[in-house]
Amino acid sequence: MSSAISKALKDKTLINANDTAIVFYNLSSIKERIIDLQNLFPQNALHSIAVKANPLTKVFSKIKTLGVGVEIASFPELHLAEKAGFASETIVFDSPAKTNAELEYALKAGVHLNADSFHEIDRIIEILKTVKSKSTIGIRVNPQVGAGNIKSTSVAGAISKFGIPIGDNKERIIAYFLKHKCLQAIHVHIGSQGCPVPLVVEGIRKVLDLAVEINEKLKLNSKQNQIKTFDIGGGLPVSYHSDKAPVSMEQYATMLKASCPELFNGHFRLITEFGRYIYANSGWVASKVEYVKREPGYNIIMTHVGADLFLRKCYNPEDWHHHISVVDKNGILKSGTDLTRYTVAGPLCFAGDVIARDLELPVVEEGDFLLIHDAGAYTLSMWSRYNSRQMPKVIGYSTETDALEILKERETIEDLFEFWS
Ligand SMILES: Cc1ncc(COP(=O)(O)O)c(C=O)c1O
Repeated sequence: MSSAISKALKDKTLINANDTAIVFYNLSSIKERIIDLQNLFPQNALHSIAVKANPLTKVFSKIKTLGVGVEIASFPELHLAEKAGFASETIVFDSPAKTNAELEYALKAGVHLNADSFHEIDRIIEILKTVKSKSTIGIRVNPQVGAGNIKSTSVAGAISKFGIPIGDNKERIIAYFLKHKCLQAIHVHIGSQGCPVPLVVEGIRKVLDLAVEINEKLKLNSKQNQIKTFDIGGGLPVSYHSDKAPVSMEQYATMLKASCPELFNGHFRLITEFGRYIYANSGWVASKVEYVKREPGYNIIMTHVGADLFLRKCYNPEDWHHHISVVDKNGILKSGTDLTRYTVAGPLCFAGDVIARDLELPVVEEGDFLLIHDAGAYTLSMWSRYNSRQMPKVIGYSTETDALEILKERETIEDLFEFWS
């Protein structure tokens, strides 16, 4: 990180005095994680990378060349995916609030659709009476295996706004598959971060049991399996603590294979929807120290990102963590054992705009940059407009070639005026 920022700081075409915060992506790390995924799952799996984790279109064009697709959770995300050139059959459309018009568009385009409710399936069936479609269509099932450690990102409790709860609906789900031959896929996603891997696997197994049962029941009527595609969602937790090793994708794939061999032996075509695993540890933020307020008993660092970029950390501080280190104005890492305690405050007009409390750092001075680690997922995509701050510049770098490039320019004052006009 320090070498990427010091190199970027030397090149005035990359970073200039107005760049009070810059988001960096290690493009080599994104590529490595995707290749990992492709090597660990069956060759014909569709890895649809979650756009909600990182919607940068320049990153899309890079990952597209690796042969992955995208998971989208809104109509505008579908537009981004199409403009980036993803083929329809590599786009997976999840959302609990798809309108009739959006469904019709998606069906005409031929993207994979996961219906979130019986109501949505009914709408799809209606639309298919008049529209020809190459879409594969699945049903999202909530396996109701319970919540993980983070309430706001857990979606497989007894009550969830996502999917059809399996407990009371098993027979009805089977009846829908029996009646509607266009339903050929099933989808499960139990949460994003905070769900322990055994719980993720348990949720998938529960829905897989249902898929196997449906295929066996329906085989009585036809020789072919009706459910051909199984979508395991995303949700592999990553580590935000450098001293805590996460469950690796390899360990996850091994556990999944042991518990759900049908997903690896050709019974089903697999779809995955990872986001955080691909991006979180591949991105970080450099944010300039504007002031250091030194008061008796406390020190506050005023910096240029806060709840605008780190919404989850600022609004649910107990659930989230980002390691922070500090470099000087040339990007050289500050280290040493003489540490001072700081509160790291963002620039926004409310007291909760704090990204770290009681953080021990070497002496921090105006003009230094804080490096906020593991910030590549659910940060820029959740950007808040409060106080109309400009969305920061994004720089990508390759550790293979040492090259740096601008992935997105800093938002201009005129862009902001346009936004609010
Ligand atoms: C349906 C669905 N799929 C995939 C994801 C991506 O999850 P993660 O980024 O944790 O892999 C999410 C995240 O919320 C989701 O809701």
